[in-house]
Order: sequence, then structure tokens, then C-alpha cells
Amino acid sequence: MRSLIYLTLSCTLLSTCVFGYPHGQKNPKLSPAEIEEEISRLINDMILPEKLGQLQQLAGDWYGEVGPSDIPLVKQGLVGSILNVHGAARTNQIQRWALESRQKIPVLIGFDVIHGFRTLFPIPLGETASWDLEAVEQAAAIAAAEARSVGIHWTFAPMVDVMRDPRWGRVMEGSGEDVFLGSEMAKARVRGFQGGDYSAHDRVLACAKHFAAYGAAEAGRDYNGVDMSERRLREIYLPPFKAAVDAGVGSFMTAFNDLNGVPATGNKFLLTKVLRDEWKFDGLVVSDWDAVLELINHQYATNQSEAAMYALNAGTDMEMASRTYVTHGEQLIRSGKVSIETVNTAVRNILRIKYRMGLFDNPFIDENLESATLFKQEFLDAARNITARTFVLLKNQGNILPISKSIGKLAVIGGLAADKFETTDHWPGDVQWQDSVTMLQGIMTKLGVTDTNGQVTYAEGCDTYCRNTSVFDRAEQVARQADFVVVVVGEPREYSGEAGSMTNIGLPGYHLDLVKRIHSTGKPYAVVLVNGRPMTIEWLAENAPAILVTWRSGSMGGHAVADVLFGDVNPSGKLPMSFPRNVGQIPVHYDHKNTGRPIDKASGSLTERYRSKYIDSLNSPQYPFGYGLSYTRFAFENLQLNTTSITAEQSVQVGVSVRNTGQRDGEEVVQVYVRDVAASITRPVRQLKAFKKVKVAVGQTVRIELILKPEDLGFLDDNWQWKIEPGVFEIYVGNNSDTTMQANLTVTTAASEVIGTSTATAVPVTSSTTVNIGESSTHGAASSIQFSVPLIAIFLLLVF
Ligand SMILES: *[C@@H]1O[C@H](CO)[C@@H](O)[C@H](O)[C@H]1NC(C)=O
Ligand SMILES: *[C@@H]1O[C@H](CO)[C@@H](O)[C@H](O)[C@H]1NC(C)=O
Ligand SMILES: *[C@@H]1O[C@H](CO)[C@@H](O)[C@H](O)[C@H]1NC(C)=O
Ligand SMILES: *[C@@H]1O[C@H](CO)[C@@H](O)[C@H](O)[C@H]1NC(C)=O
Ligand SMILES: *[C@@H]1O[C@H](CO)[C@@H](O)[C@H](O)[C@H]1NC(C)=O
Ligand SMILES: *[C@@H]1O[C@H](CO)[C@@H](O)[C@H](O)[C@H]1NC(C)=O
Repeated sequence: MRSLIYLTLSCTLLSTCVFGYPHGQKNPKLSPAEIEEEISRLINDMILPEKLGQLQQLAGDWYGEVGPSDIPLVKQGLVGSILNVHGAARTNQIQRWALESRQKIPVLIGFDVIHGFRTLFPIPLGETASWDLEAVEQAAAIAAAEARSVGIHWTFAPMVDVMRDPRWGRVMEGSGEDVFLGSEMAKARVRGFQGGDYSAHDRVLACAKHFAAYGAAEAGRDYNGVDMSERRLREIYLPPFKAAVDAGVGSFMTAFNDLNGVPATGNKFLLTKVLRDEWKFDGLVVSDWDAVLELINHQYATNQSEAAMYALNAGTDMEMASRTYVTHGEQLIRSGKVSIETVNTAVRNILRIKYRMGLFDNPFIDENLESATLFKQEFLDAARNITARTFVLLKNQGNILPISKSIGKLAVIGGLAADKFETTDHWPGDVQWQDSVTMLQGIMTKLGVTDTNGQVTYAEGCDTYCRNTSVFDRAEQVARQADFVVVVVGEPREYSGEAGSMTNIGLPGYHLDLVKRIHSTGKPYAVVLVNGRPMTIEWLAENAPAILVTWRSGSMGGHAVADVLFGDVNPSGKLPMSFPRNVGQIPVHYDHKNTGRPIDKASGSLTERYRSKYIDSLNSPQYPFGYGLSYTRFAFENLQLNTTSITAEQSVQVGVSVRNTGQRDGEEVVQVYVRDVAASITRPVRQLKAFKKVKVAVGQTVRIELILKPEDLGFLDDNWQWKIEPGVFEIYVGNNSDTTMQANLTVTTAASEVIGTSTATAVPVTSSTTVNIGESSTHGAASSIQFSVPLIAIFLLLVF
């Protein structure tokens, strides 16, 4: 054994490192039972400091190194995990140190790989706007491959917090306001990061965070307390976490906030009752950064020892950054405040993941992988593709967009258009931002120009903060000489992300004045918005001819913006979160309750009194959830349920035809919402229950058929059991949450049951459609051709 270990220590490459690990080396794929046996053996052999060491996640320094004083801890086997280190050589070095220890347990290496590692994808809120589960899964898979190639095993993503307050800066990291869309995205990202087996050399362990209700921070102020009913928690905030468990997520992170008086990191109800007992989660739970220590600030724990006690006893297996477990664990056990079984269970949860990660077979990464993987052309192409599909066209008066490539003179205005650093955001992974493409570069490349003195001109107008108007005059001049102006405005990167809460979510500084200045020239223009959150843009909505939301779009954002502005890509993003009219409306989300005095939605009336409304603002948001335009037009036709009445055991098929009546091929997102007209627990006015993004060519009609299963019509009863009540359900179908296209369904019987892991049912659609192409096609295809639409079979499975 000893000689094998020396062999290991002297090797660096994967191929020579496959032998020499004391645990499990003979059986790279142990059965679950064998893994548990191995863990039991190890735990029997471990001394308490080694056990507590497994519960510690150390933070690397900010430059990606392990702190010098921590290296001996790794060599003594007193560290379970390290975050914020990367680089194949460095991470292999850490594993070599770990293998010097008595138990030779490899270290789990974590990093915030939120939406890309070296190839930066759009922020998660933006990715979600694609409504494309495959693309989102692919983006996560690419991030995983890049991260694993430098020895990272574990990402602290996806963030699956439902969020309804755009003041909260962290909305950039989530999937928006909706429970169902958020759950689907959670699953897609877990699949992308982990694949079927995260021991693979191109996958990482995912982490569902922040458990729970972090997205409901009061007043949108980060880290703020949360007080909500168990019903709201279970109906709105927990389902995406459950979806992540169903998708096999291997780890959870506790939230910073307190929930109903008990900080999440010390919350036994969440971490033990719900997560372990109800959901049977067998992965590991890590605290957020210093969150165990913060139990003192929460006025929950008296001192560090108590903080460790509460967190351990609640079910927080691993402590990130702060070191209360290793400092006070022994004393807590001696005094009986924490049992050794509690510690053993936490160790077991962590070691189980290390086994599944394959670390006991081989903790090293092939150092050749790094340069062969990072920022590969293939990844950049995929990033450009998905990025363009995340943009949301909010307005396009008179089809002013796309811009013709043979436009005379095009002015680009705004510092955000030319600032590479601003292509990144709060979670830049290990991006080398100098390699990012700015919008100005993307536009110049698209038009094949190399300077800004000819077809393309540029004026800063103001820098990203836009704190003064000193060079507005020049911007105005440049605009006056142009045939079309692209004005790029929005938020600087530090105005969103963790600790990026804002009370004013309009355009910051003088950005709006810059737009008004351009507007005053009378030139045709489009506003390109750079934003980490939904913003209040009432003036733009009323006055700007075109608005394109581009979120924070990452490495290839500049090319993607050019692809959309010039029509090479037809925009197809839909808002994953409502854009409010003003801050006073917040929280604003489409699935609100109807109240006893709803407004007349059709009139949206400002003058009615004694209704649930404001005197000075409409209830409706500026742009609703699910909204987004295209350069073509789609007609929704022929909504049909295959039956108007089902029992609580039956499913219904919702069919609708989407016809492209415009001049360009495009993609549309078919959205299905359900309204339960009367129930023993009041239901929201409508809830998204199915969606599908479909390509529809010019003149084509595509028939989409989505299945609603009975559980999609149910809700939680007072014992938190799923329940379906008989009654009428209104089914709404369309391209945003305001759609009025509707059919009714009656459920004739009741059912009550615990809904376990849902099983996906694939439903082949056997119909096909023949369509007549209209006169012209902007893509130069022959006109007036008759062809048969390729069969689009939709398999939609509805899942809670
Ligand atoms: C972009 O990705 C979509 C699916 O996500 C795919 O259908 C399409 O072909 C891709 N386009 C390009 C140009 O690669
Ligand atoms: C922490 O506080 C508890 C409760 O007040 C006390 O019993 C314990 O001695 C304190 N521990 C330390 C290490 O100060
Ligand atoms: C005014 O804005 C310009 C361009 O945005 C910037 O370079 C300059 O530093 C600002 N001046 C002051 C006094 O803030
Ligand atoms: C959304 O659907 C409506 C109703 O069919 C239609 O009028 C509208 O054109 C669609 N939106 C887009 C962007 O095609
Ligand atoms: C309607 O479609 C669902 C889902 O495919 C199917 O289970 C059900 O049997 C169909 N009902 C009828 C009446 O055809
Ligand atoms: C569905 O039922 C509601 C009453 O719940 C009724 O107002 C509506 O007109 C019906 N819609 C259709 C399409 O039959």
C-alpha cells in the first residue's frame, strides 16, 4: 500500500495516476451499498479532528491559492473542501498534499461557476429568457467541462430561488418569478452541470441554493429576513428545490436569511424535516459563506460555539469559510451538545459525494485538459448562439429593427457599448474579460469595418455610470450625422449581483437624458439595454422606437447583439420576470391572487374606486412575464383540448397551431397557463404549467400539443398532501402571461395523494400540417412554394 501511495505522489498525469488510492481503487464503480460500507470503515478509523476537518470548507485567497498557513491542515487531513482555487497544476498539488494525510481523503474543490467559467454565458436570468431548456442545459455542460478541466469538482449553482423583487441585485443569478419555469430551469441546469454521472471528466457537482426563501428578502435588500407562511414557502419557494432533488442534484447550500425567526443555516425544519425526511435527499449540505458564524449576528447564537451547535444540529454538513465547527466541535461533543452521530452523519454525507465524484479512484485532473478545453471555438459558437436567443425585444415600432447591413451611416452611442469589463458581471467565473467582444466590436465585425470613421461611428456620450453630461454634445453631433443610432444604456456591472440591491431600478445617472438627447435629433434609433434585473423604463416604453433587452451577456454578447440588430438572428427571448412600471408596484408578478375586489382587467381602470388597485399607477407591469416580440408575427389558432372533461386520474392534451404570418423565420414560445376557478384554498389568477419553444418558418403552421397531467391541476392541502378538487379550470394559451386565448376544462372527480418524483411520459404526436407559403421571404427562398411541415412532435410532461 505504502509504495502505491508513493507512486501516486510522484505522478501528475491522469494516465499514471489511476492506481494507488487506498479506498475503492479496485472497484471504480462501487455500488451504493459498497460505498456506504467503505464510508463506515473510514468513519470507524477516523479520529474526531479528521471528522471535523471533513466538515470544513476553507476559502482560498482571492488569487486562487490556498493560504500558506492552511497547507499544513490539508496535509494533515483536516480539510474536506476548498473553494476559490483553480488551475489544474494547483488543484493537483492540493490533492497531492491531501494524500500525504493519514486517511488520504481527497479534497473537494469548489468554485462559483454560475454561468460559465472561462467562456462566459449570459447571466442566469438572461439564459432563462431563452425559455430553451436544451440550450440552458448545454450552457451548464460547457461551464462544467471548462471548470472540471482545471480541477474544480463542484459549482455553487444553480441558484433556484424564486424572486419577485427586482430591487434585489441577485435576481441576475436566478430564473425569475415563476415556480414552474424556475423548476424546469433548475432541472436543466442540474442535468447540464452533472450529466448522468458527475465523476466524468467534463462534469461537476451542482448545488441548489439558497435553501430557502433567500429570494424573498424583505424589501429586496440582500441578506434581509424573510417571514412567510408555510403555504407560501411550499407553494412558491420550495418547488424549484424539489425539482433539483428530482433531477439528482448532489448538494444544497443554506441561505443567508432567517426564515420565520430561524436562520436558514440553523433551520432544522428546512434542513432535516423537509430536505432529508420528506425529500430523502442524500447529498451534502454546505453553508453559505460565513453563514454559520453569522448566526451570532442574527441574534440567534451567543457565540461561535453555539453557532456551530445550531448549524450542525440543524443539518448543515459543511461550513464554508468560517471555522466554528473545527474550533468548537470537540468541546460540543464532549459536553453532549452535539452527538457524535450528528458529526458522523455529516461526514458520511460528504464522503458519499466524494465517492460519487470518483475522487477515491482518482483525484487528479489530466493537466493537458485545461488548455484543450478553455475558451474553445466550439464553446464560443454555442455561447454566441444561446446569447442571441436570450435577448428580449420589448418594442419595435414600425419594424424599425432589424437594421439593414447596407445602412449608410450607423452611430453607436454609449460607454457600455465599448467597455469589455462591462461584458461581465458579478459572477465572472475565471473570465479573461479582455477576450470578450463588445457590442461596438460585434457591430463593426458584422459590417466588416475596422474603424469608427466611416460606416460606423461611435461616441461615448457618457461612461457606464453616466454621472455627468459633459460629452453629450459630441454624442448628439455623431447621432445627427447618422442614418440610424444604436444607444446602449443600462446598469454598470456592480449595480446587480450579490449585495447589489437598489431602491431605484430605472436607468442610473444621466443615461435616460442621453437617450432623450438622441431622441431629440429625430433620427431613427434603437435602445439596447444592458441590465442585471428588470428595470423601470416607462419613458423608453412610451417614447423609444425600439428596445432590446440584452441582460449582461458575457463573452460573446457583442456578436450576439449584432446578430440580432441586423436580423441574422430573429429575437425569441421572453421575460422570465415582469418589468414593473415603478418601484411602488413591487412585488409585481403575474400569478397573484384575484382578491375580492379585482380590477376590471380589460379597462385596467385608474378611475374605479374600491378596487384592489392604486390611484396613481396601473396594476399591470410595464411588460408582463412571458412577453417578448419577434421580427415576424405569429398567430395562435385553433386551440383545442382533446376532451372538455376529465377525472382526477386523466390527462388532457392542449393543442394549438402557431402560424408565422410575417416575413421571417422565427421562434415562438407557446405558454400554457391554468386558472382554477374555485378551490378550497384560493388559487392564483393563473399559473404557467407548460411551455414549448418552437421554430416556425415563414408561412408555416406548426401544431403544438402539450399534455396537462392531473397533478398540474392540483395544490397542497393543509397537510401538505397534493390534492385535486373537481371543478372548472380555465386553460390559457399564448405568447405571454396576459394571453386571453382560452378553453375550459372540467375535472369531475377528486384525488388526494402524495406526489412523488414525477415520471415523464413521452407523447408522440402523429399529426402533420400542410401549409401554403405566402408571397415573399426575406431570406431569398423561392416564393409560393407548397411543402409539408416537418412533423413537430412535442413531448411535454408536466411535473411538479
Ligand atoms: C443554435 O442552437 C439551437 C438550439 O439550441 C439550434 O437549433 C440551432 O441550430 C443553433 N444555431 C446555430 C447557428 O448553431
Ligand atoms: C457560548 O455560550 C454558551 C451559552 O451562553 C455558553 O454555555 C458557552 O460556554 C459559551 N462558549 C464559549 C466557547 O464561549
Ligand atoms: C464625466 O463623464 C466623463 C465621460 O463619461 C468622464 O470621463 C469624466 O471623468 C466625468 N467627469 C466627472 C467630473 O465626473
Ligand atoms: C402573440 O400572440 C398574439 C395573439 O395571437 C399575436 O397577436 C401576437 O402577434 C403574438 N406576438 C408575437 C410577438 O408574435
Ligand atoms: C387526451 O390526451 C391525453 C394525453 O395524451 C390522453 O391521456 C387522453 O386519453 C386523451 N383523451 C381523449 C378523450 O382522447
Ligand atoms: C369558461 O368558463 C368561464 C366561467 O368559468 C366562462 O366565463 C367562459 O366564457 C368559458 N370560456 C369558454 C371558452 O367556454
